[in-house]
Amino acid sequence: MRIVITGANRGIGLELVRQYLAQGHSVHAGVRTPERSGELTALVGPSSGRLQLHACDVASDTSVRAFAAAVTEPVELLINNAGVRSRPDGLEGLDLDDVARTFQVNALGMLRVTSALLPLLRRAQGAKIANISSGLSSLHDNTSGGAYGYRMSKAALNMASRSLAQDLRGDGIVTVAISPGWVQTDMGGSDAPTPVAESVSGLIGVIARLTLEDSGGFFNFRGERLAW
Ligand SMILES: NC(=O)c1ccc[n+]([C@@H]2O[C@H](COP(=O)([O-])OP(=O)(O)OC[C@H]3O[C@@H](n4cnc5c(N)ncnc54)[C@H](OP(=O)(O)O)[C@@H]3O)[C@@H](O)[C@H]2O)c1
Repeated sequence: MRIVITGANRGIGLELVRQYLAQGHSVHAGVRTPERSGELTALVGPSSGRLQLHACDVASDTSVRAFAAAVTEPVELLINNAGVRSRPDGLEGLDLDDVARTFQVNALGMLRVTSALLPLLRRAQGAKIANISSGLSSLHDNTSGGAYGYRMSKAALNMASRSLAQDLRGDGIVTVAISPGWVQTDMGGSDAPTPVAESVSGLIGVIARLTLEDSGGFFNFRGERLAW
């Protein structure tokens, strides 16, 4: 498979690259700052040409257009993984600029990248789009409040995933939102219960089993359906 992964220089994105390469796939890895992507760069040589690293700031139209132009070949799988956590917020002292920045990356970034890569996804047979969401996006499960920017941006990502699923069904493209769980990364922190390798092998298994019937769904890394 030819796979595109955004936010690939650390955390879940980097581990997705590692595990897909180990399975023999080819990866176009998008990173915001290539010169700060040492661990990913170290994988390029041993990959024998299967890993290509590209600059891709998902918050920038110019950067995403250049990224899509550099990929050029059909894409069987797009994983919109890049994401940011908004600043800790409470109702007092809400930083709406930070909320908007979080939206720009988590919600609009996914749509920007997907739209730019659409011709390449359409050229593949039965392509898949996996949008990395979060349990915190769930309206149903929000019993603790707060995290306005993060929750709202990931709920918007979920809604866009549903629309993409409808709009791309005719092209045979499967689109889902997937939560990786609470994972031991810079974002998840060291108290998180799930090692990154476990979350990613779960995500890869779930993505591999997706069919058109699953399109528009919201899953976790164990393949269980989540409540919107
Ligand atoms: N960890 C968790 O517990 C958890 C739970 C639920 C959902 N998630 C989701 O899982 C995904 C990966 O998170 P993670 O835990 O691996 O977090 P992480 O370790 O903080 O990594 C985030 C990645 O996103 C990249 N990124 C941020 N803004 C970007 C931009 N504008 N353009 C391109 N890349 C950008 C970062 O690049 P830089 O190095 O350049 O900043 C980094 O590679 C995110 O979508 C996150 O919301 C994580």
